[in-house]
Amino acid sequence: MKKLLFQFDTDTYPAVFDTVVAYDGGADHVIGHGGLTPDNVTALVEGAIFTRAPKDKKNTAIFVGGSDIVAGEALFAAVQRHFFYGFQVSVMLDSNGSNTTAAAAVAKLAASGTLNGKKAVVLAGTGPVGQRAAAMLAREGAKVTLTARKMERAVQACEHIKARFEVDVTPVEAFDNDARANAIEHANIVLATGAAGVELLTAEQWQTNSNIEMIADANATPPLGIGGTDMMDKGIDRHGKIIWGAIGFGALKLALHRACIAQLFTDNKQVLDAEAIFALAKAMASAA
Ligand SMILES: NC(=O)c1ccc[n+]([C@@H]2O[C@H](COP(=O)([O-])OP(=O)(O)OC[C@H]3O[C@@H](n4cnc5c(N)ncnc54)[C@H](OP(=O)(O)O)[C@@H]3O)[C@@H](O)[C@H]2O)c1
Repeated sequence: MKKLLFQFDTDTYPAVFDTVVAYDGGADHVIGHGGLTPDNVTALVEGAIFTRAPKDKKNTAIFVGGSDIVAGEALFAAVQRHFFYGFQVSVMLDSNGSNTTAAAAVAKLAASGTLNGKKAVVLAGTGPVGQRAAAMLAREGAKVTLTARKMERAVQACEHIKARFEVDVTPVEAFDNDARANAIEHANIVLATGAAGVELLTAEQWQTNSNIEMIADANATPPLGIGGTDMMDKGIDRHGKIIWGAIGFGALKLALHRACIAQLFTDNKQVLDAEAIFALAKAMASAA
């Protein structure tokens, strides 16, 4: 029986990246739908849950993606509201690669040092990757601060994280590189999750900071988020700090995304959101 992955995207066009990884993760056929919302997804979910016998339902799965994590979370919840006893399929949420990217970065940091009790700053943490990463760091016991250029954006993101994950993340306004250098003054861990091609700190702003133990940067588009690092850095030592670049942990991100797709087809009850994806990332990072 063919493994069918229905790619439900909140953007107009389903993400090509997610389609490719879905095939590479083991789906036999990927069917993309764009522009989905909680209001127009009902018939699609019913088509997925009613068509195959109970023992065969594990061969149908749903992936929710798109550039907007809030819209993705709403769609992910709406899909599951249509499930009832015996009639469900496995589901995964990864809007903009948020869960897999954040999980890979934080898992690499966790494998490189201690997170529990450390001060962590997620720079430009208001996007899909930053919000998920902040939550994962907090759940590992770090004291997490999240920056945005405007305080109201930082507050909004922290409130969203609190509502979803029941962890406290402190919002900080940091408009420019100097303000972000102040925000990391006492940090032990810095995770940069700014938009592609935006430098958030210059090399001089972190290299002489003796509190910093580990840095990760999700941005792989020059200029990088953290000046003086390399996107290929794989837990290397620079100025006494462990550095993970976007491509450095990107191999785990891709392997993780593929492994999640494969896991969707193991039974019809998988719910792969931040918690399950991060657990898998940690297992994969420590096995690597
Ligand atoms: N390595 C990988 O495998 C991988 C996979 C997926 C994504 N990524 C990368 O991960 C990063 C985060 O992804 P995302 O989708 O969460 O990012 P995003 O939503 O595009 O941007 C994150 C935040 O960056 C801030 N920002 C935008 N322009 C800025 C500027 N000029 N100066 C300072 N801050 C600015 C914004 O925060 P405020 O407006 O609130 O200040 C925004 O919320 C991106 O660089 C993306 O390319 C990497």
